[in-house]
Amino acid sequence: MNTKASGARPNGTATLTYGNKRIELPALKPTEGPDAIDIRKLYGEADIFTYDPGFTSTASCESDITFIDGEAGVLLYRGYPIDQLATESSFLEVCYLLLYGELPTASQLEQFDHTITYHTMVHEQISFLFRGFRRDAHPMAVMVGVVGALSAFYHDSTDITDKRQREIASHRLIAKMPTIAAMAYKYSIGQPFVYPLNHLGYTENFMRMCFAVPCQEYRSNPVLAKALDTIFILHADHEQNASTSTVRLAGSSGANPFACIAAGIACLWGPAHGGANEAALKMLKEIGSIDRVPQYVKRAKDKNDPFRLMGFGHRVYKNYDPRAKVMRDQCYAVLDELGNHNDPLLKTALELERIALQDDYFIEKKLYPNIDFYSGITLSALGFPSDMFTALFALARTVGWVAQWQEMIEDPQQKIGRPRQIYTGARRRDFVPREKRG
Ligand code: CMC
Repeated sequence: MNTKASGARPNGTATLTYGNKRIELPALKPTEGPDAIDIRKLYGEADIFTYDPGFTSTASCESDITFIDGEAGVLLYRGYPIDQLATESSFLEVCYLLLYGELPTASQLEQFDHTITYHTMVHEQISFLFRGFRRDAHPMAVMVGVVGALSAFYHDSTDITDKRQREIASHRLIAKMPTIAAMAYKYSIGQPFVYPLNHLGYTENFMRMCFAVPCQEYRSNPVLAKALDTIFILHADHEQNASTSTVRLAGSSGANPFACIAAGIACLWGPAHGGANEAALKMLKEIGSIDRVPQYVKRAKDKNDPFRLMGFGHRVYKNYDPRAKVMRDQCYAVLDELGNHNDPLLKTALELERIALQDDYFIEKKLYPNIDFYSGITLSALGFPSDMFTALFALARTVGWVAQWQEMIEDPQQKIGRPRQIYTGARRRDFVPREKRG
């Protein structure tokens, strides 16, 4: 699969002076983005750790896949800007690009499409696994369980030292995730599972598996399918975010890919990561109408009120999230297609965006709408209940996780992930017998 480029270039040294020690550390220049100081020898040579909770200033790996410039609001997959990919490409083409490093030729895409399509069915025994869950289980709880269980069904692609097996496992994960997500949805609403249909495209197939019923003919709508396909492109990868780092960390021990992706799904489930679009939609519903927008903006600025504008702000983007612009266009397209352009949620969202973007508090703190601001409205208009939103995110992010996992396995610098700590507990002390305590 992808081969690593030449890697970061050496770029002089940095000198760290601490106490009476002077330590020379090599500096590295990436293709894009800030230079990095290579501190790998710091502990061995100087007996010092660095402290960086949340890894806000630490690069954990070299990667050729995705680049983000948060200040400029730029997101590139393999060098291509996200807005160009979202408008001119398809999700499967982007999957190929992320996995193999280059855009496919027409015949490569045809072959890839065929391979993914012919892996979409899941082992029939997996449908019995679903029946072990409560009907009201959250789809993400089901996804974590079922995806983790894939390693029990596909042993022939769990040898991570075999390049071909790694590739097959990657294809299986990308292909089966829509089937599993749709099954989780169908199970939760008490409808029969719908098998994939090979003549349909990836996203149309997924929508059919979610919304078709055996007693009625299902017709796909190309505008809605394009919108969902675009949402998948926008969510396909996002550099070393929490769930991707989780996949890499799990994989660094040599765990099989199905187990690693299940770990990524578990991490994504958290409201600070994958759950924000659900929260943004809930907030817009709570605001309810344009006239109530100012009071919510006021609350968001109040230091004594924990309320935040959901769908605003980002750890990395200190500018308009480039994905949010595309998402907004798709939101309009879907609501127009469905004849909902007067949707009260959209009107509330537009007014909230308008007010917040000219408010000093949001300007000074560089708080702009993020992708989740418009994706909740769009997914809801497409017919998905809000507890499916994160499952859809997991479906789309699977290719990013898989590409990053592959890259990690092939990286000669890769080691088992093992952060250190600053110990702040009790000093060494002797055991006290029970009768002498207190
Ligand atoms: N509404 C009001 N104030 C905010 C908001 C907001 N949405 N976001 C940040 N702030 C304020 C915050 O109170 C703080 O103010 P002060 O400096 O006076 O204490 C300042 O801005 C910096 O906030 P922070 O929490 O230190 O910033 P962060 O980079 O750690 O947090 C964030 C980023 C996304 C967690 C945060 O902006 C937030 O909670 N946003 C709402 C939730 C949301 O939309 N999350 C989705 C993110 S996109 C998902 C993805 O890419 O996968």
